[in-house]
Amino acid sequence: MSANEKYKTSQDLFERAVKVIPGGIYGSKSPGFTVPGEFPYFFTEGEGCRVKDADGNSYIDYLCGFGSMILGFGNSVVDDPAVVQLRKGDLLNCPSPVFVELAERLCKLIDGMGWSVFAKNGSDATTLAVTMSRVHTGKRRVLMAKGAYHGSANWCSANEYPVLDDRDYVHTFPYGDEEALKELFDRYRDEIACIILTPYHHPTYTDQVLPQHTWYPLVESLCEKEHALFIMDDIRANFRLSLHGSHHYFNAHPHLVTMGKSLANGYPIAALMGTPELKKAASSLFITGTFWTSSVPMVAAMHCLKAMEEWDVQNHMNQMGKMLKDGLKSAAEAEGLKVNLSGPDAIPFMTFPDDPNLYHNQIFSAAMARRGVYLHPHHNWFLSYAHKTEDIEETIDKAGDSFKEVKRHFSK
Ligand SMILES: Cc1ncc(COP(=O)(O)O)c(C=O)c1O
Repeated sequence: MSANEKYKTSQDLFERAVKVIPGGIYGSKSPGFTVPGEFPYFFTEGEGCRVKDADGNSYIDYLCGFGSMILGFGNSVVDDPAVVQLRKGDLLNCPSPVFVELAERLCKLIDGMGWSVFAKNGSDATTLAVTMSRVHTGKRRVLMAKGAYHGSANWCSANEYPVLDDRDYVHTFPYGDEEALKELFDRYRDEIACIILTPYHHPTYTDQVLPQHTWYPLVESLCEKEHALFIMDDIRANFRLSLHGSHHYFNAHPHLVTMGKSLANGYPIAALMGTPELKKAASSLFITGTFWTSSVPMVAAMHCLKAMEEWDVQNHMNQMGKMLKDGLKSAAEAEGLKVNLSGPDAIPFMTFPDDPNLYHNQIFSAAMARRGVYLHPHHNWFLSYAHKTEDIEETIDKAGDSFKEVKRHFSK
């Protein structure tokens, strides 16, 4: 079956979409971010680690709703109580008791944090964190790593056009470059409100980079000297490294931590947490959103946290991820291809070092999609608790034939 036939419903829907929605599908879900014509654009359902597209094709999924589905799609341990709450009422005039219960739960669980506020998307939480650091310090400059993604707000988004001076006080440095970071702290002495970092570097399109053991001690000492705040943006890695926050895993000590994605296994909720000393600054901000207190995602978060704790989810995902990485490496080598598998085992990404333009990635991921495995060509992948040994074995088996296609394509 040709790609056009396989993805016909997706493509027809997309043609309708472009007439009424700018770009058809925008942002990271747009066809241009995968391999246009060779990937599905619309999905209808998911169960465990498998998703079904609008044409009825099924895939073993390694994107997990961009990381959110940490327990797998349709997990009844989370969904059943969420549906019960939905029937009782999701958005009531004021928060329901679970608002307090979830904040209490997170304060006990996440290392060093003494309070929590809730929002919907990660971008809400990172933007609040930056605003709060400006309020607390009375300074306005923000430092972030080049290529890091902290959301779609103007101060940090990838938009190239001028955005109302929002970027004038945001300065970037190459991730892990200690001299460049020291130089920025020197250049803007007495002006830096915060540094925002992801627990490790997971830029789009390239290999992922883990921090050197000297990185966090340096960040923390520079922040202390300058009275600047250290924000850990844990939205993507969250709970795949540690139940106590990725900063616990890397022995780092941020003042503010942002979470989202996997906190409620796909339900829309994000959280900003902070150390007890910052509660005063947090209390002085007007923090609100019509849907920010809706209770269904909070009920989902409570049950997701409970399941993650009881099932030793991190350990399972990392084992499955290691198996996937090793299997892909051997399957590539069997075809004489070199691959680089970077990042933590539960959040891997694969590149072909001989092909920095990612053409090999595109041929490989399109070949995998044709065989029923969804591996993003440009964005890191995610394992979930629902991925089991048989799913990884099936993936590796299909990778063998897909690597053969890559080889054939580039030896023409
Ligand atoms: C590290 C990080 N921060 C912030 C965000 C923004 O989250 P959201 O898309 O929920 O606004 C993302 C989303 O991918 C992310 O990966």
